[in-house]
Amino acid sequence: MRATLPDLPRHCLTGAELSTSDVHTILDRAAELKAAPLSSQVLAGKSVALIFQKPSTRTRLSFDAGVHELGGHPIVLRGDEMQLSRGESPADTARILSRHVAAIGIRTGADAILDELAETSTIPIVNMLTDGHHPCQALADLLTLKEAFGSLHGLKLAYVGDGNNVARSLAIVGGIAGVEVAVASPVGYELEPEAGGTRTNDPYEAVAGAHAIYTDVWVSMGDEATAAERTEALRPYRIDDALLDAAAPDAIALHCLPAHPGDEITAEVLYGKRERIWDQAENRRHAQKALLEYLVS
Ligand code: CP
Ligand code: NVA
Repeated sequence: MRATLPDLPRHCLTGAELSTSDVHTILDRAAELKAAPLSSQVLAGKSVALIFQKPSTRTRLSFDAGVHELGGHPIVLRGDEMQLSRGESPADTARILSRHVAAIGIRTGADAILDELAETSTIPIVNMLTDGHHPCQALADLLTLKEAFGSLHGLKLAYVGDGNNVARSLAIVGGIAGVEVAVASPVGYELEPEAGGTRTNDPYEAVAGAHAIYTDVWVSMGDEATAAERTEALRPYRIDDALLDAAAPDAIALHCLPAHPGDEITAEVLYGKRERIWDQAENRRHAQKALLEYLVS
């Protein structure tokens, strides 16, 4: 008798698991779910564990509300209330969670924790932000670009700032979607070339011809000890009206939030006519619902 292999779960650990067609399918589905938020009940009768080992406003809200809209029950768990915080291994944690819920979302530090969870999990794992990646953010950003320009075809996005998790996911997932991603960072804060897209130390070079200019905080969660030197190095990389004027004529401003007006972005841009930042924050829910539907189906 031939042994049947168990179906391996689909994960979204970095976003690199997704093909070009997967990304476009998820974005099209996200637009449908945005128009009809309760039209999918794919999680009816199921629960999703949402583990937060770092603070969150948008991710927590959008996953919690999104799972509910899909008919499911979100179980939000703070890292410090789980046995994970007392040394239970990610592998054993995933064994247990796989017996109770349909998917796991996790926000943590080291990406290795997700890899360890994925080794024993029989259910999908979604990266809700790690030190290295923020793929759910990138999917929402692509949805926002698609809404603004009708299609992703031929678009250029310029990321200006720290070559961090958000920059990396934009380069990886944006590249998969066919968007040109140019990253401008100061010396010492550059994103590695392997993530895809182009690199420069000159923000004006990156934004030339760009349809969207994107930035993120200068001090990510976990980088607090180097806040002073980061602020010093990144100050010339602030997004302001002059930088937006140097991009394509209809360029929009994006930011994953939380923002520090006056630091990485001026208040004039953050609350101005060319921002799509608040739509971008809402799009987290729609994009993640489409991702969850894709992963559990
Ligand atoms: N953009 C983002 O992930 O925000 P939170 O840290 O508030 O979840
Ligand atoms: N790069 C930031 C993103 C916050 C949503 C951080 O990791 O803190």
